[in-house]
Amino acid sequence: MTYKVGILGLGTVGTGTAQILSDPSGRHPLLTELEIAQVGVRSLDKPRAVDVPHSLFTTDLDAIVSHPDLDIIVELIGGVEPARSLILKAIAHGKHIVTANKAVISRHGDEIFDAANEKGVYVMLEAAVGGGIPVIQPLKQALGVNRIKRVTGIVNGTTNYILTRMKTEGADFADVLADAQRLGYAEADPTADVDGLDAADKIAILASLAFGGRIRLEDVHCEGIRHISSTEIDYAEKLGFTIKLLAIAQEDIPENSSDGTPQKLSLKVHPTLLPKSHPLASVDGVFNAILVEGDPLGQVMFFGPGAGAGATASAVVSDILNIAAILKTETEPIPHPLLSCTHQHFCAIA
Ligand code: NDP
Ligand code: HSE
Repeated sequence: MTYKVGILGLGTVGTGTAQILSDPSGRHPLLTELEIAQVGVRSLDKPRAVDVPHSLFTTDLDAIVSHPDLDIIVELIGGVEPARSLILKAIAHGKHIVTANKAVISRHGDEIFDAANEKGVYVMLEAAVGGGIPVIQPLKQALGVNRIKRVTGIVNGTTNYILTRMKTEGADFADVLADAQRLGYAEADPTADVDGLDAADKIAILASLAFGGRIRLEDVHCEGIRHISSTEIDYAEKLGFTIKLLAIAQEDIPENSSDGTPQKLSLKVHPTLLPKSHPLASVDGVFNAILVEGDPLGQVMFFGPGAGAGATASAVVSDILNIAAILKTETEPIPHPLLSCTHQHFCAIA
């Protein structure tokens, strides 16, 4: 069986995604059944860092999302429009969706998920929060039995990279931001990173999953790192603290509450002085971490690379794979990967 994938956008994440799909050997066996059928871009003349046949490229993204042969549409163009309209059109044509786009999900998730439910298709977004860190799926499933009290995250790689280099090298804000752009960490409009909006989109998504209900971006208090100086970072270090841009979603228990019942959620993104002993204080560079506190589990922390081509593509392709696996089980049972793997060591165990 072959599952045909249309990729919208071949920038940082699209390129990483195409690289994994074009080189399946040694990875999950089901990857060999995925085929890049079309790629939508803005410019046909741009040199590309991945070997995808030029005949698959088009600037007509509407044609991709309505193409009768495609099974899965992977939206990696970013921003709200035309991403929102393309996703909705793809759903209307019965396509399953994978996206890394936190902006469109945090602002138009309701509309998108309603349309998907009506049509009976999947919308997967593992890469939208935490880059390569698997956190969406665990929050939806494995952690779902817990009553979540608080989610605290370093969820923006660009700002963590900037703050880290300001701390370790005394580097200049603008220079490090330029490096983050060159390395593919920053958004197309990096003000979304430095002013905290990207982190606000992400905590809105995490809070919706952790606490349920509709969390709107407007409900998130949002402050970025633009005003943080090297001098403040130095002072914080000397006093035993580190400055991190934290995204926090927690139950708000009013002071006059007699039984400790939370009344509403508190949602914030802001630079925070963290004691060096805090589990998030040592998360440096482009790395992200998400600390989830719940009952009865206690604390669990997810940690890993929060941005960049390869890391993010790992999450994107895992979503594509999950959809393909579901589609495949509808037609035939698939063996557990340990039973069908090509690694000598594991095969011997199996
Ligand atoms: P890039 O800017 O690197 O790539 C965007 C791609 O989309 C380009 O190939 C561009 O075409 C294409 N594109 C953009 N607008 C249009 C349009 N209107 N019509 C046709 N093609 C269009 O973005 P990234 O790869 O960095 O990000 C993609 C998504 O992934 C975003 O939602 C981002 O937030 C998210 N993300 C990014 C991460 C990262 O580390 N970069 C990490 C996690 C999520 P062309 O190449 O021709 O210009
Ligand atoms: N610009 C984002 C960041 C990309 O720096 O975290 C990952 O979502």
